[in-house]
Amino acid sequence: MIKIRDSWGSRLGIIMAVAGSAVGLGNFLRFPAKVAANGGGAFIIPYLIALFLVGIPLMWIEWALGRFGGGFGHGTAPGIFHSIWQKNRFIRYFGVIGIFGPLVIFIYYTFIESWTLGYSVFALMGKYTHITNQSGMQNFLHGYQGIQHNEFFNGLGWAYFFFMITFGLNILIIYHGIKGGIERLCKWALPLLFICGILLMVRVLTLGTPNPSKPDWNISNGMGYLWNPDFSALLSAKVWLEAAGQIFFTLSVGIGVILTYASYLKKGDDVVLSGLTAASTNELAEVILGGTIIIPAAFVFFGPVDIASIAKSGTFNLGFVTMPLILNNLPWNELFAFLWFMLLFLAGITSSVSLAQPAVSFLEDEFNISRKKAVAIFAAITFVLCQPGIFFLKNGVVDELDFWGGTMFLVIFGLIETILFAWVFGMNNAWEEIHHGADMRIPKVYKFIIKYITPSFLIIIIGMWLWQEWIPVILMKNISEGDKPYVLATRLGLMGLFALLGFLVKIAWRRKRAQGGTS
Ligand code: ALA
Repeated sequence: MIKIRDSWGSRLGIIMAVAGSAVGLGNFLRFPAKVAANGGGAFIIPYLIALFLVGIPLMWIEWALGRFGGGFGHGTAPGIFHSIWQKNRFIRYFGVIGIFGPLVIFIYYTFIESWTLGYSVFALMGKYTHITNQSGMQNFLHGYQGIQHNEFFNGLGWAYFFFMITFGLNILIIYHGIKGGIERLCKWALPLLFICGILLMVRVLTLGTPNPSKPDWNISNGMGYLWNPDFSALLSAKVWLEAAGQIFFTLSVGIGVILTYASYLKKGDDVVLSGLTAASTNELAEVILGGTIIIPAAFVFFGPVDIASIAKSGTFNLGFVTMPLILNNLPWNELFAFLWFMLLFLAGITSSVSLAQPAVSFLEDEFNISRKKAVAIFAAITFVLCQPGIFFLKNGVVDELDFWGGTMFLVIFGLIETILFAWVFGMNNAWEEIHHGADMRIPKVYKFIIKYITPSFLIIIIGMWLWQEWIPVILMKNISEGDKPYVLATRLGLMGLFALLGFLVKIAWRRKRAQGGTS
């Protein structure tokens, strides 16, 4: 029996949901850190090139592929790839990456998202708003993460409590489905997130010179610090890799989530303008809001010397140490700290639900089980999978999950999708499919870009990575001796998860064949 699949309630609904998936922690923490560490304004050159040559093409490819596969009742890459290339028996196994990637990101992303909820509650309780020095705020974070027992925390209790709430909320939203859960959430959370972001941006832009003895530590120099280009950075391959990686992560392309969201579209629904609108909303949030808040504010308070080390101190430090410290220097700091962490929480939850959906859709579509049951299985399995990231954060488990799930597999998956769509399905068919029901025409040059430039760009990125980093990564050269067993165990666990998903794909298709199905 074919089940009726869920669907979006409105066009605005899916645009908000895709934009909600895209606008995430990456926009407000990862992006400013990458800009500051990779040549300031010069970083924007490879970033924009990657946006136009890879990000936007992949956005269209994924919307079109998803809608196409949805027509065959498939919401995830194994089935979607199979609908595109029915003669090939193996292509569905390549699609496993489109379930594996979001699942892996989900299991660490939800934990980090839960910190933002914890910190927003603690802001209102005044638990850290009196701290005015770097080491105090750092201790607070380490205490919260369970890395240190100190005057603030005595173990992981609070972190676990907020994790349970965040995890439960994610499950509840997914349980209510595409229209009743995800669409409903994103329709109010995204505007609210923008309001929080704009309030914070205005607050930062009106900081003036809080330190009268340092008139140079002002907001315009802060913006200059972030945005003045250092063109020599463009000679480094790493800067180009980082820019492309950021585009993937921020737009949520190459993960598999947009395929799933678009599979709930109807055949005649537009994908061209909707995809572009979602991508533009994300860029607005990233470049304008993300690029204005944290680094310029840190410059005003810490000055040109300290800012360099602050900017390079990593995304967690920027978000959970530097930003609260800055806000603690301002009147109404409880309110602004609350706004900051609420912004991150809303950005996080609208992304994490999208990361959960592919695995749930896979169970629903390919095993023909109810959403209730699919969500229950998903919840039970991911709850267990989240534990290593929570308990062994300090041993590099989250970094390892982020590298494979949040970086490496994205680029590989993006390449597979592009080749499949432009070369196997054929560029003319692909062009027609993208424009089916479209509200605008894509400039013709994109036919050439999607067919030749996007895959070449991705091949070069993967090639450069293999050339520069493959051996040290595999041999765990940059990992401390003490952390090696944890990293190795994480890798083995990831391999096991991948194999399990591959096995599930095998069973699903075997069952379909036994029932006489063809797709
Ligand atoms: N696109 C999401 C983010 O930027 C995953 O955080």
